[in-house]
Amino acid sequence: MSQSPDKLGALQELDRRHFLHPFSDHRQIGQRGTRVITRGEGVYIYDTEGRKILDGMSGLWCVSLGYGRAELIDAALHQLRTLPYYNSFFQCTHPPAIELAAGLAEVAPPGFSRVFFTNSGSEANDTIIRMVRRFWDIHGRPQKKIIISRRNAYHGSTIGGMSLGGMPVQQAQGDLPIPGIVHIEQPYWFELGGGMHPHEFGLKIAGELERKILELGVERVAAFIGEPVQGAGGVIIPPDTYWPEIQRICDEYGILLVADEVITGFGRLGEWFGSQYYRIEPDLIIFAKAVNGGYLPLGGVLVGDRVADALVEEGGDFHHGFTHSGNPVACAVGAAALGVMHREGIIERVREEIAPYFAECWRSLADHRLVGEARCVGLMGALELVADKATRARFPAARSIGEFCRDTSIEQGLVMRHVRDSLIVAPPLVVTRAHIDELVDKARRTLDIAAGQA
Ligand SMILES: Cc1ncc(COP(=O)(O)O)c(C=O)c1O
Repeated sequence: MSQSPDKLGALQELDRRHFLHPFSDHRQIGQRGTRVITRGEGVYIYDTEGRKILDGMSGLWCVSLGYGRAELIDAALHQLRTLPYYNSFFQCTHPPAIELAAGLAEVAPPGFSRVFFTNSGSEANDTIIRMVRRFWDIHGRPQKKIIISRRNAYHGSTIGGMSLGGMPVQQAQGDLPIPGIVHIEQPYWFELGGGMHPHEFGLKIAGELERKILELGVERVAAFIGEPVQGAGGVIIPPDTYWPEIQRICDEYGILLVADEVITGFGRLGEWFGSQYYRIEPDLIIFAKAVNGGYLPLGGVLVGDRVADALVEEGGDFHHGFTHSGNPVACAVGAAALGVMHREGIIERVREEIAPYFAECWRSLADHRLVGEARCVGLMGALELVADKATRARFPAARSIGEFCRDTSIEQGLVMRHVRDSLIVAPPLVVTRAHIDELVDKARRTLDIAAGQA
């Protein structure tokens, strides 16, 4: 249902005056106004003008099961009526957190039987900084403090999360990173690979981890953290050689491997976890977003037995947690979401049917004259926009083709996100072939409009 121009204008004005948006340039919001989203149904969102928009980003990578899912809504309502809140401190617990923890242990890779709940991916990343250091303290190695991460990683927006992340423009605000976190290069073949074969490039970049461990001294290094596929950094899909080499290095030096699966968890790559897709065996898995279909704030850490046994058997009190760690309503929706994923075979369908179809359609965009690379894995895709396909030359920095395409795409009725000069999508896992056709048609139309202006 569309709103009258007066009502819309009034909402936008209140928004401009009172709402400080996350990750936004407020002066720009004031000048350009905002799009007010009022409703979601299935894989579509609707704005105040009644425009129907295909949500190619699943909200912010989280609304994996689509909008308006009765099972999730009913679970929330039931739990709100039964017990909307109780904490899990001081020897207390409640059924939704217990059931979700057990359900997560069931779908987690072997060797994971325990879960620590947070409200977000950022808090989960802060949690692992404390957990990893606590682990080495318990083992009598308190000097092992350094966590190695990667440039252009995104691990959230809290002080810890953003320090683990590797985006200098963001870190410049607030004097980050905090001490004890160092960064190595990312496995971004299109941007950094030059003439190298992707396999060779993957080994070379993974080798930076070994060189950094040796430079710092293994006695000071606690862990390595990485997203199986960097999402916010621009859907950076590592070459096949990358993760096996990272795993080898972590094993050889005995450092903990942390997989941040806030985006890749719960079916995005056609497996429960991206670690399974890449056959890596992390010690800790960070999750959030799609754990409950993105309907309520919820995140956490799946704690592998190596760490959990130390914390449980020898660690005493772990002084960490949040008022809403394991919030009953958020967890009840999580348990309902796991139920939907099991019953409807969502993950198998992504793996066997919908991701292969998406790959075929998405990669067909590579023939467009603005597209230097059309890559995808599971239901995540990126288009690298270039001025010259042969040399991979970018457009002049002053002219953000990415932003132009992002805005044009919404006008065409498709949410795509831009990261520098690339466009990215991660549609809900419940998309049909017809939705994918629509997504790719609208993406091509967007590219055509941009090419007409270029
Ligand atoms: C890999 C990764 N880690 C952590 C986060 C932060 O999660 P949240 O926004 O829930 O704090 C994000 C958010 O996009 C993410 O993509």
